[in-house]
Amino acid sequence: MALKPLIAANWKMHGRQDWASKPGYLAGLLAGQGRTLPDVLFCPPALYVQSLAAAASQHGFYVGAQHCHPAESGAHTGDISAGMIKDCGAEYVIAGHSERRADHGETDADVRAQSEAAQKAGIVPIICVGESRAQREAGEAEAVVGLQLAQSVPDEATAQTIVIAYEPIWAIGTGLVPSLDDIQAMHGFIRAQLDARFGPAAAGLRILYGGSVKPANAQDILAISNVGGALVGGASLEMESFAQIVLAA
Ligand code: PGA
Repeated sequence: MALKPLIAANWKMHGRQDWASKPGYLAGLLAGQGRTLPDVLFCPPALYVQSLAAAASQHGFYVGAQHCHPAESGAHTGDISAGMIKDCGAEYVIAGHSERRADHGETDADVRAQSEAAQKAGIVPIICVGESRAQREAGEAEAVVGLQLAQSVPDEATAQTIVIAYEPIWAIGTGLVPSLDDIQAMHGFIRAQLDARFGPAAAGLRILYGGSVKPANAQDILAISNVGGALVGGASLEMESFAQIVLAA
């Protein structure tokens, strides 16, 4: 059975405890629309995963964390493991977001290890890839993303156990978005890479687009072939705008 599109909110370092009311508020905004909804995922800061998971599950929404350490436990002050994320009621974890790669020096090998740890714990890693502006201008976008995929994605990739997010770094938080043709080309490229490496096992694996997704552009982006959902930052903080993106899927 084909998986539904996935619309994921990446709250980054935003929110407080009272944001646990947001899933309920979103459910109210979506009620009575008479449409099949996509899978809806909230990725709050780690401290709030547990309370968000309790709130979100009441409405059939999912919760994920924004990062995990590759080890199951150990002497890693300040880190959390995939098993802990699962234990707190979450089903997903973002791996290798460009802000983690930049702020914490995470490499493709780190992202792969985190993703393997997530799979082992029984949660789904959302593995982020994407080129910088300079790399796109130099015509290197596909080469960069191809290498990130080859090195960040574990060997056991199926549609049920992995999600990929294509997030051009220059589009994150800037209001800039690639042309629809460029998004289509990159998602087609990613699909071809996955097909070549994993074959039928990865058929239907969801490839999200992320980077300045807004209510105004969501419908056009989500209609592109091989776009299986969206990873939404800024526009996911207010449920009015997030609801419009959910309904565009
Ligand atoms: P943005 O962030 O929607 O604010 O551009 C997307 C992301 O970083 O996942």
